[in-house]
Amino acid sequence: MTVLPTELGLSVLMRDGSQAEHKDAEGSNFMSSLLDGQVNEAGYTEYLAMLRPIYAALESVAARLADDPIAGTMIDPAINRLDAIDQDLAFWAGDAGVPEIRSKAVDTYVARIEASAADPALFVAHHYTRYLGDLSGGQAIGRILARAFDLPEGQGIAFYRFDAVPKPKPYKDQYRARLDSLPLTSEDQQRVVEEVKVVFGLNGALFTELSAHLPRFAR
Ligand code: HEM
Repeated sequence: MTVLPTELGLSVLMRDGSQAEHKDAEGSNFMSSLLDGQVNEAGYTEYLAMLRPIYAALESVAARLADDPIAGTMIDPAINRLDAIDQDLAFWAGDAGVPEIRSKAVDTYVARIEASAADPALFVAHHYTRYLGDLSGGQAIGRILARAFDLPEGQGIAFYRFDAVPKPKPYKDQYRARLDSLPLTSEDQQRVVEEVKVVFGLNGALFTELSAHLPRFAR
């Protein structure tokens, strides 16, 4: 009897298709130093300040695509991060004020998010890579930061706390089910997977820029 391969859902294609890129992101100098407690407050503040325009772009495009039959299925304003980032920036930057960021990596990333507004399937790749990541490894990152910086209860890590998602696991399962339900041709699914790889690369470029400043960020 011949067993035909089962058709893989989009969520599996996205995860499996970006495994190597995910490993690269995890292994970036900046991330591993941050999680090792070797990055100071200024370094984490700059990282947050770089994430701000990225989430501003994600959430502004999401608002425009809320009724789109494809992207709209994934968009959920309850998991927006911009307010949390602002809350954290106020905590980390303190009296010094939020640093002004001039970054080619951020500009390139923001332009790519904006461009995906015209091709909503690609926006799904942007949405997945950041929000599912924040709901996954991001949860551990928040806990490690709290320990490394000995943060006062709950402060400075609002970015990793999703008030609307008390338990990430069922939310992520449901998110993956929504990905699998999207009415996309296999060609479109492939384009989404390729865009996920691009998005990981854009995040990698951000880490590369930050890594170049590690001597300045040393604790
Ligand atoms: C040191 C940094 C990181 C660690 C320790 C980490 C860890 C993890 C872990 C343990 C999971 C699996 C969680 C699960 O099975 O539910 C995961 C999933 C994920 N991570 Fe990361 N991650 C890191 C960085 C990143 C970055 C920088 C991104 C992208 C910007 C990212 C995006 C994702 C995505 C999209 C998933 C979901 C995969 C899926 O199930 O489809 N991660 N991460």
